[in-house]
Amino acid sequence: MTADATTGTRQAVPWRLDCHVAAADDSAAADELRRALTAARPWVPARWFYDDAGCDLFVRITGLDEYYQTRTEQALLDAHMDDLVAVHSPTELVEIGSGAARKTRAILDAMERGGTLNRFIPFDISPGAIAASAADIAAAYPGTRVHGVAGDFARHLSRIPRRPADGRRIVAFLGGTIGNLDPPHRRTMLRRLARLLRPDDVLLLGTDLAHDPEVLVRAYDDAAGVTAEFNRNLIRHVNAAFAGDADPDAFAHVSRWNARASRIEMHLRARRDIEWSIAGLGVVIPIEAGSTIRTEISCKFTKKAVEDMYADAGLHLASWHEDTQGRYAISVATPS
Ligand code: SAH
Ligand code: AVI
Repeated sequence: MTADATTGTRQAVPWRLDCHVAAADDSAAADELRRALTAARPWVPARWFYDDAGCDLFVRITGLDEYYQTRTEQALLDAHMDDLVAVHSPTELVEIGSGAARKTRAILDAMERGGTLNRFIPFDISPGAIAASAADIAAAYPGTRVHGVAGDFARHLSRIPRRPADGRRIVAFLGGTIGNLDPPHRRTMLRRLARLLRPDDVLLLGTDLAHDPEVLVRAYDDAAGVTAEFNRNLIRHVNAAFAGDADPDAFAHVSRWNARASRIEMHLRARRDIEWSIAGLGVVIPIEAGSTIRTEISCKFTKKAVEDMYADAGLHLASWHEDTQGRYAISVATPS
């Protein structure tokens, strides 16, 4: 697919966005979704949460009391980014699944204080999220080049611009998004991320940790119902992208802890019999009352699991920082 390049200015500060995602001609994404929805146990790839409405709902989730992950990661970044910059002198930040890029500022601020910041490359499936954050960040960090890439991290990481010969890179994958991938996809993803690194570069990874299941289930089933709305919005997004006709309100939100797989699962449970016709995918999905579509897995890790994951990708755990309650960790890995 050819990229569309967009440029924008705000307060006369330029930024750039290369776009490799367009629902209309993305047959690989359509095929993947069709296969997932027609599987014996239907599921939906997590990328379908993130249309503009879904990105906004996710930002609301990050502010919920129950969703401790974002504020915990923010505090860890605030505490440790100056040290990371002092040791590695990174000149550019590549952020995968950057979303609204709010916590990103803790890294950019440290790079600016260290006098090394040159370029920011946000990468996300949502062009809207990149455009909004690119404009804000270009304005807030004058002199920093902002080059966004809208793409699927399973397919388009090779479209990330090359760095200058003397550049050093932080590749950040925050928010616990690695946990939204099952073990085989996670392994592939980490190997791909490792390929973005040269010897002086580092990977900065955010991982949610396995702990009290009650706290975890509540983090995905908040009292105000924002996560339920985020979950149902996925139906709206698929309807809009592929001419589907399901009523999102015909589904109830489910958050459950799967101890064996150490993961939270979100499902949508049919409140009645449903025939979901999706013309653009050429399918009709029969969903019996009470049965579910799995919409997300969110895997929770131990330090050992993260170390093993790094080793498999040819990476080495350089530092590990977790909060005092053992709920969340950021870690730094280097090519071994
Ligand atoms: N990093 C931010 C956002 C996390 S939400 C934070 O920590 O708050 C997950 C982000 O990953 C969303 O912005 C979503 O659009 C993006 N995303 C999900 N699937 C993706 C995919 N397949 N390729 C690229 N980005 C993806
Ligand atoms: C983006 N990702 C890490 C979030 C998570 O916690 O798995 C998505 C999310 N789903 C429901 N709440 C938040």
